[in-house]
Amino acid sequence: MSRPLLEGRNITVRFGRGANAFEAVRDASLSLNPGEIVGVVGESGSGKTTLARVLVGLQPAAFGTVLWEGKQVAEPDSRERVPKNERWKVQMVFQDPYSSLNPRMRAWSAVAEALQVWRGLTRKQAQAESFSLLQSIGIDESQARRFPKALSGGQRQRVSIARALAPEPRVLIADEPTSAIDQSAQARLANLLRRLRSERNLAILFISHDLALVRYLTSRVHVMRRGRIVEAGPTETVLRKPRHAYTRVLLDSLPGRRGMGSAAFLPPIRGG
Ligand SMILES: Nc1ncnc2c1ncn2[C@@H]1O[C@H](COP(=O)(O)OP(=O)(O)O)[C@@H](O)[C@H]1O
Ligand SMILES: [Mg+2]
Repeated sequence: MSRPLLEGRNITVRFGRGANAFEAVRDASLSLNPGEIVGVVGESGSGKTTLARVLVGLQPAAFGTVLWEGKQVAEPDSRERVPKNERWKVQMVFQDPYSSLNPRMRAWSAVAEALQVWRGLTRKQAQAESFSLLQSIGIDESQARRFPKALSGGQRQRVSIARALAPEPRVLIADEPTSAIDQSAQARLANLLRRLRSERNLAILFISHDLALVRYLTSRVHVMRRGRIVEAGPTETVLRKPRHAYTRVLLDSLPGRRGMGSAAFLPPIRGG
């Protein structure tokens, strides 16, 4: 196995102070190898987003360390999880692409803006590159000229992914990217993530409620409950033979358990 690209060790995150202190993430460890898709599942409020925000550098941890290629990137309790000049290496896309896209910017322009910022392209270069990047992820020229509200949920999610890809990251954290879109769009998005992984050797942390998608995409999965990772291992093993009672209960409560999820649209290939 190759050296982890991104690793969180014994991460604890606290919100509030004193008697109101609350640990949203407790002693959670997780690593991501180059070109690997790793899953995180867990009920709402279990700490998935908070853990992801620590890994991407948006949230300081009370304890624990984040490592990039084996090197500690920040002290606990520091806002600088990933050094600023390396921030581009880890990008995150959020559940609701509507909130992360400027409603007054056409899709191509939102992506071009990111390309100008991150790659130092001229306006003209960024415009051409934006259309080509969007095209490569299934947004054609006429869709690229629309405002976010004139796009479908799946198209908006792909525009956010294009923006996240602008700095050519090595890690993409996708936080429930499929929860706001319909099933056929979910299947397209899942296939896009697989393609990004194989074409760009992109490592992806895939946070989801949909076990069919987790099974399709990921090689390893982490199960979170009340801030803790209660179970982790190869996806097939965890989903087929969960060791913990909680995992069994959770698995039964999530969509996709009995083949009713988005996998109905997907060819029977296992995430690798
Ligand atoms: N900025 C914050 N301040 C206080 N509590 C928060 C904050 N962000 C998240 N939480 C709480 O932390 C817990 C974990 O939230 P979150 O990481 O969003 O869970 P998930 O993504 O698994 O639904 C929840 O109880 C949530 O209300
Ligand atoms: Mg969340």
